[in-house]
Amino acid sequence: MSKEKLIIFDTTMRDGEQSPGASMTKDEKLRIARALERMRVDVIEAGFPASSNGDFEAVQAIANTIKDSVVCGLCRANDRDIQRGIDALKGAKAWRVHTFIATSPLHMKVKLRMSPEQVLEQTRLSVRYAKNACPDVEFSPEDGSRSEVDFLCRVLEAAIAEGATTINIPDTVGYAVPEQFGAFIRTLREKIPNSDKAVWSVHCHNDLGMAVANSLAAVTIGGARQIECTINGLGERAGNTSLEEIVMAVRTRGDFFDLETRLDTTQIVPTSRLVSQITGFVVQPNKAVVGANAFAHASGIHQDGVLKARQTYEIMTAEDVGWTTNRIVLGKLSGRSAFKQRLKEIGIELESEDAYNKAFQRFKDLADKKADIFDEDLQALVAQQAGASSDEHWRLVTMNQASGMGERPHAAVVLAENGSERRADAQGDGPVDATFKAIETLAKSGAELLLYSVNAVTQGTESQGEVTVRLSRGGRVVNGVGADTDVIVASAKAYVNALNKLESKMERVNPQHQL
Ligand code: KIV
Ligand code: ZN
Repeated sequence: MSKEKLIIFDTTMRDGEQSPGASMTKDEKLRIARALERMRVDVIEAGFPASSNGDFEAVQAIANTIKDSVVCGLCRANDRDIQRGIDALKGAKAWRVHTFIATSPLHMKVKLRMSPEQVLEQTRLSVRYAKNACPDVEFSPEDGSRSEVDFLCRVLEAAIAEGATTINIPDTVGYAVPEQFGAFIRTLREKIPNSDKAVWSVHCHNDLGMAVANSLAAVTIGGARQIECTINGLGERAGNTSLEEIVMAVRTRGDFFDLETRLDTTQIVPTSRLVSQITGFVVQPNKAVVGANAFAHASGIHQDGVLKARQTYEIMTAEDVGWTTNRIVLGKLSGRSAFKQRLKEIGIELESEDAYNKAFQRFKDLADKKADIFDEDLQALVAQQAGASSDEHWRLVTMNQASGMGERPHAAVVLAENGSERRADAQGDGPVDATFKAIETLAKSGAELLLYSVNAVTQGTESQGEVTVRLSRGGRVVNGVGADTDVIVASAKAYVNALNKLESKMERVNPQHQL
């Protein structure tokens, strides 16, 4: 007998993008959307179209590209936002308008300054407006888990009566605990007379580390059949429910959950890497499913057991979730078609022949410096190319630095600003510090450095270093990434990438911040 279906709703590009520094360009979002479609995610929340022209265009481009997943856009509960959403989404093969308004006493009083009756009326009007244009409408009562049950029932009943086909209960502040949250969803479904006319969904934040547990309790105890989640658990503050943990829990413990998703789990790790590279949010090594150590056995007893029978210490296989062993895939003599073929095999599609030519040239440059090229190198290379927008304000032309024991490090950098080259020298406490100071002498960005992190792309000292630089200026936070076999050059590339993101005018409103 076939199992009931669990709908996977990915919000990496909407809620995930609300993490400070995780904002993405249109091209980056398109790449993530293609990866999510390849993974067979049911619904892709592509963004918040009313938040900025940039996000409108990104949602529109995704709607016009994706064919095998429903494309969704978030809209506050007002006509202007919803119309913006409709305009961005209407070209899609299958699309959904997701509208929300806060229903907890605190949010209504302090944030919205609206009475409960006004919120109820606004819910009716906005779902009605959305439904007129789109058959697939999702409604979320923000801060749902801290809302009063009787009032929430009235709001949700009205939303369903106006045509909402999915009711999503957010635990906006990550306050819920599993048994209670599961029972809360069940109570809502039992009390609301027309509850069977909608699919029930949950959207949990991870402030107390319980987002995955709360979501699963909502499914088993509450009867929810959609989970909203993000790749790597990206999201506001401590993040959202992690997609990979939900999907693998349901699959690995199919005996308990008796549900199935339609996802191709072998796409999990490549997609996780892509999101990490684009956002600059490094995945912690011990992160379930996608952390570098998730399938590594260090202790002798475990290694011995796994060699005898993998199931002794492994409940799922690395291959099931898309880990490839660090295989040498390409080298200096590999040709363009082998390169293109390997990109295809690891799920990377570039948008044009020109993009393939540029990526191949980068690959050749890398192969001159590094004998063996692994899948991870290819991913870093393509991520860098995509991160470097065509309208770059700053370009790193060349750099060198000198440092040694007892000597004050020194760096010289040549940058092109809108095409014209300038050079600066600086000293610093270390080679990276000197390099950043030299770049700042030219750029004068006045940005504050919030984060500098280096990660080895593969194992061994010949690995490329992948650097993340997080800069903040005037309340805007951006991440830059750069990879190179020389970590100082990677650092300079990452800094320049972050400067270019600061230059791009991508102002966005956070959906939770106003009505
Ligand atoms: O956390 C939240 O409440 C949300 C809603 C807008 C769905 O992200
Ligand atoms: Zn959220």
